[in-house]
Formats: sequence, structure tokens, C-alpha cells
Amino acid sequence: MANSTDFLGGLAQAPDNSSLVLKSYFWLQQNASIWSILFTSFVALCIYDQISYIIKKGSIVGPKFKIWPIMGPFLESMNPKFEEYKAKWASGPLSCVSVFHKFVVIASTKELARKTLNSPMFVKPCVVDVAIKILRPTNWVFMDGKDHVDYRRSLNPLFSRKALSVYLPPMAEVQNEYLERCVKQSENGSTTYMHLFREFMCAISLRTFCGTYITESQVKVISDNYFKITEAMELVNFPIILPFTKPWYGKQMADMTMEIFEKCAQMAKDNMAAGKEVTCTMDAWCKLMVDTKQREAEIGVAAAKADKKSYVREFTNKEISETVFTFLFASQDATSSACTWLFQIIADRPEVMRKIREEQLRLRNNDCTVEADLDLIDKMDYTHMVVKEALRYRPPVTMVPYVVKKPYPVTPDYTVPKGSMVIPTLWPALHDPEVYENPDEFIPERWLPGSPANQAQSNWLVFGTGPHVCIGQNYVMMNLISLMGKACMLYDWEHTITEKSEDIRVFATIFPDDDCILKFSKREHPEVL
Ligand code: HEM
Repeated sequence: MANSTDFLGGLAQAPDNSSLVLKSYFWLQQNASIWSILFTSFVALCIYDQISYIIKKGSIVGPKFKIWPIMGPFLESMNPKFEEYKAKWASGPLSCVSVFHKFVVIASTKELARKTLNSPMFVKPCVVDVAIKILRPTNWVFMDGKDHVDYRRSLNPLFSRKALSVYLPPMAEVQNEYLERCVKQSENGSTTYMHLFREFMCAISLRTFCGTYITESQVKVISDNYFKITEAMELVNFPIILPFTKPWYGKQMADMTMEIFEKCAQMAKDNMAAGKEVTCTMDAWCKLMVDTKQREAEIGVAAAKADKKSYVREFTNKEISETVFTFLFASQDATSSACTWLFQIIADRPEVMRKIREEQLRLRNNDCTVEADLDLIDKMDYTHMVVKEALRYRPPVTMVPYVVKKPYPVTPDYTVPKGSMVIPTLWPALHDPEVYENPDEFIPERWLPGSPANQAQSNWLVFGTGPHVCIGQNYVMMNLISLMGKACMLYDWEHTITEKSEDIRVFATIFPDDDCILKFSKREHPEVL
């Protein structure tokens, strides 16, 4: 076994002009076994990792050192407990944790969360490490600065009021179909509904985005298997995509979905070129491209380009498929979470269900067959307040991971090091007792016009803020308000309350820990309150 005398001896044999590192290397080569080299390297790595952590942590809240060398609290984070997240957020405005090589800073106050979301000079979205591989590095959501702003400008019309009014009728058809499936699933009594709601929301998204270009069987395969993508994106996952791991299955599923989307994009292009009607998001996008081409022919390329508001460049099928995939990705877990909580919350509060029913019948003059259009949805004030309160009470997105591009002075006393992850946290702002009295109670009336909740715009972080604020937020409200209005008017459902119903399980977003046990039935006389 090598000892310190051998070490000096080894150094003596090294060339005179060699550095200490080289001398050490020569000594190791001559004296150390492979095991002692590995052991020494591991110890050196652990020491480096600990020192690096302590320096990066600086003055903010977090473990004094990494109890588990290198990997940190990786194992605990595999099955995150919501109460542990809450404890972390309460531990200080800024707190930290280090998992493997990744140093993570959590920004918990409204001010620090808003500041981070509005600091594109210093940070950019990173979702989770494997997301770049699954969504592909070329995906627009990873664009930064002007490139991102320009790209997003082309997408904004896809969520305009005009576009939403096109999406509403097919959305209503899927809602009708799945509400009937909810009843069918209850034929043998109460069951868990979280999985069906996930499938439901996926089917709505696919129909809205791809219209009838996507077949029923493709919708089924994607909605049945989408959870594999969610699993791959867990906050903490193995950083490399190894075969047969969750990220690997997720990537297979994402690639297959994007392949389907590419084909749909071509069909949409063909239909729009042939002057057919816009029926879905892909159509709406391709129509903008056709219109731009027409304007170019009429007034010339330069003049068409100068009108930045209406100019939309030609996008490839691959770009369209990757972008529409981000819509599905951004929508799927968050909307499923909101939908699940809404059904549970309303079932537990018969008075809320009754008030929604009353509003729906009144606005339709007691004609339950009337399908809502956007103008009718605008008038659903109470249903709107219920949906808004559910999004506040159980915000689907509780954290938005960003990566630090250059040292980010988040406070006068602390700068987040380059390369770290910084996670603005939305829950505390949405449960701020100064703005939302009794924040852990579900009170739709807190959203009445002129109320403190309505005035505190800066606390409303459900959809984020800044350059990456949710592009689909109006679409989300349209979907959830029309769905809950219709469900309350036409159906009854009961919730089996278990001791886990109010416990929150983190699965990308948040869900009731018992998967929401319900029993649906169709109302025989929906026109009667
Ligand atoms: C209840 C449902 C939803 C919630 C709570 C939600 C919330 C959010 C949040 C918190 C962000 C990050 C904002 C930021 O970084 O400041 C975001 C981004 C985004 N959301 Fe949503 N979202 C929902 C549904 C949707 C839907 C249905 C779509 C598409 C149709 C969508 C598309 C997007 C996109 C594309 C981004 C990234 C925007 C960008 O980087 O410029 N989301 N969403």
C-alpha cells in the first residue's frame, strides 16, 4: 500500500521541471493501485462537490452540507411529498438544494417569483433536465430573447378570440362524449376518475390542435400513453436517457406523437391552400401562412414583412409538430389537474353545484340543449369565479424551473450562480393571507368585482408572468368554464371522501392523493334545479 514516503519518492523520480500535478500523476502511476486511484478520485470529487455546494449556497437557507455525497437528496426527491415542498417554501424567501451536479435555488415569495419570471436577461425556462432531449433542442420554448418574442408573436393569433370560437364546437363534442363515458364508468359504482380525466383532457387538446386530421385510434394511443411523457419529466430523474428507463419511454412516446403531428400539419397545409375552412389550431396557423403569401403577392415581400402584426413566415411541418407538441405538453398535466380538482371540489360543495346549475339554466332560458358560444361563456360569472378559485386553491403549476444563464443577482445579498436552476414558486403568492382571507378555504365569492383578490393582480400567478406567461390561458378558461357549466347542468356526481382526498400528490402537477373517487349519473330532468 502506498504511503507518504512512497509519495515523496515518486516525486523525486519525476522530471525536475514538472508541476505538482504532474509529479502527483507520476507518483500515482508508479505506486498506486487502480483501486486506490479510484478511491482517491472519489474522495476528491466528494470534497470538491461539498465545497462547491457550500460556496454556492452562501447565506441562503438550505442544508449546511450535502449529507449524501454527490447525489444529495436524490432518493427523497424520487417520491416528493407536498408537505415537504411547503416546508421548503416556508423555510425562507430563498432556499436551496443540490442534487447530483445541479444546484437548485427556490424563490418562494411573490416578489422573488415575479422578479425571476421577469428576468429574461439572466434566466430562461428549462422545465427539467431531460425536457430538452424529449421536446428537442430545436423547440421554440427553449428560444431566448428576441428569437422567442418573434416566434411567439406568430403563435398569439392561434389563441385569439376568433380562433377560440372555432375551437369551441369540436371541444364541446369531445366534452359530450367524455361526460357520457364518465357515466358509463360509474355503471358498477364509484371508481377513481383521475385517469379518465387525463384521457379526457388529452382528447380535447388533440381534437382542438389537430382537428379531424388526427384519427380516433391515434387520439386513443396518445391519450392512453401520455403519462409516459409526464413520468419522464419528473422534477428529479436520471440525467441520461438509458434504454428502458422512464425518460426513454417518454422520448419514444414524444417522437411518435410528433411524427403524427407532422403528417397532420401537411394535411392542414393542403386544406388551407385549397381554401377550406379553419377547423383547428393547425388550420389556423397554416391559414396565417397562406394569407401572408397572398399579401406578399399583392403588395410585395418587403411591404408584407413590414407589417409585423400580420406577417407570418413559412413554418415547416417539423416546426409545427414540435410547437403543437409543446401546447399538448404544457396543457396536459395542468388541465387534467384542474379538471380533477374541480370535479372533486364541486361535488363536496352542493351549494356551489346548485349555484352553477342555476346560472347555466338562467343563461340558456332553461333550454339545456343550447351549446355555449363565447358570448354565453362570458356571461357565466359565477362558474367563472368557481374555476378561478379552484385554480388559486389548487394551482396546477406550483413551480416553474428556470436555468441561470449568467450570475443572477436575485437580491442585493445573493447572486444565483450561472448554470444553477432557479425555481419561482407560485403557491405562496396564491395562498397569501394578506390578499386571500382564509387562503386554505375554497371561496368563489372572493372573486366578486372590486374584491381584494381581484385587485391584487400581482398575486395571480397561476399562469406565470413575463415573456413566457401561459399562451393558452384564455383557452383554458373557455374549456373549464364550458365543461363545468355543462357537467353541473346535465349530470350529478358524488364524491367518496377518503382520508387522502385532501392530500396532495405531486405528479408533475398536483392531484388528490386518492385519485378522486366519484360516481356519475345523468340528470333525468336537467331543466329542474
Ligand atoms: C390549467 C391549465 C394551465 C396552467 C395552470 C398553465 C400554467 C402555465 C405556467 C405557469 C406557465 C409558465 C409561465 C412562465 O414561465 O411565466 C405556462 C407556460 C406555457 N403554457 Fe400554460 N398552463 C395551462 C394550460 C395551457 C394550455 C392549454 C396551453 C396550450 C394550449 C398552454 C401553453 C403554454 C405554453 C406554450 C407555455 C410556454 C410559453 C412560452 O414559453 O412563451 N398552457 N403555463
